Amino acid sequence: MLSKCVVVPRSKGETIRKKLSEEGLLRKDLRIMSLEDDIYIPIAVEAYDDIELCFPITEMDFEEVEQIKGYKELADVPEHLKELLPTSFDMIGDICILKLEEELLPYSQEIGEAILKTNNNLKVVALDGGVKGEFRTRDLKIIAGEKRTTTTHKEYGLRFEMDVSKVYFSPRLARERKRVVDLIENENGETILDMFAGVGPFSIMIARHSNIKEVHAIDINPDAVEYLEKNIKLNKVDNISHYLGDARSVICEIPNADRIIMNLPHSAIDFLGTGLDVLQPGGIIHLYSIVENEDLPKFSEKVVEMAKGFGHEVRIEEKRMVHTYSPTSGLYVFDLISLL
Ligand SMILES: C[S@@+](CC[C@H](N)C(=O)[O-])C[C@H]1O[C@@H](n2cnc3c(N)ncnc32)[C@H](O)[C@@H]1O
Repeated sequence: MLSKCVVVPRSKGETIRKKLSEEGLLRKDLRIMSLEDDIYIPIAVEAYDDIELCFPITEMDFEEVEQIKGYKELADVPEHLKELLPTSFDMIGDICILKLEEELLPYSQEIGEAILKTNNNLKVVALDGGVKGEFRTRDLKIIAGEKRTTTTHKEYGLRFEMDVSKVYFSPRLARERKRVVDLIENENGETILDMFAGVGPFSIMIARHSNIKEVHAIDINPDAVEYLEKNIKLNKVDNISHYLGDARSVICEIPNADRIIMNLPHSAIDFLGTGLDVLQPGGIIHLYSIVENEDLPKFSEKVVEMAKGFGHEVRIEEKRMVHTYSPTSGLYVFDLISLL
């Protein structure tokens, strides 16, 4: 897979790899390469300016690696069940969150311990019982390691504190957040509305890595807004206003926006009218939705028709899968431009 990378002399390789990892800039899904006297370290940034290192940056084709290495051999589970062991996980800070097939549940602790033994940077392994309710929080059970659900996650040089049992956060959206940041026009000082902000990953990355006027970040979950406030301070950004409440009612306190982020994948579409009402003419909505792959064309038409019903003409500038959600569906983003 093609990725930007830092080219470092072999003698400095480990120091720089560690620094990049601490800053949340290292791409752990790709294997570091060594060619002659240099090491090529894949990084999760598009612009060299985002990292303060005095080494050249280039683009290379890297081999992809399994996120969590070696634990399958170590896991004390019957041989015939090993093929059911998961290969992908969510890693939030030093917490690993995984789903297990029914047959593996009696071996949860053994699996968790094998993961901890093979990954020094993980301290907790928690079983994911699914994302539930209005706050979209996960039903978690710790199966190995320390008995805590609080952590600090690093992403593109930013830090996000959270309690993963009380707030929603997805590390799998990191590249999508960066894509949105890269779309922002830095000359005009956009006003941004993050309607379902959680602990602030979109809002804070935008405020930190682009030249916007202000971000208005809303969430209905008091714990999320508490962490959002903490994370605004932690990352030293000062142009974010945060609001606790239902986006539908809070929105009347907020000025019209040039760009709106609607990341509530199971029901964002129900808030489309609310978003369109406060979108500047020519503005953009990034609408996230879980869609069955075969229904994508129908869903796209539905979005445009619904907007028409609210008295707005929109064009879908871009639609793409952010990641798979099930074998037949995906989390899709629709970039909607208002034509009015
Ligand atoms: C899928 S999470 C997204 C969080 C964040 N944008 C992120 O990327 O991590 C959706 C968030 O919307 C919040 N939420 C749900 N219904 C809401 C509503 N009516 N108004 C405001 N926030 C809402 C939930 O509490 C949750 O934090």
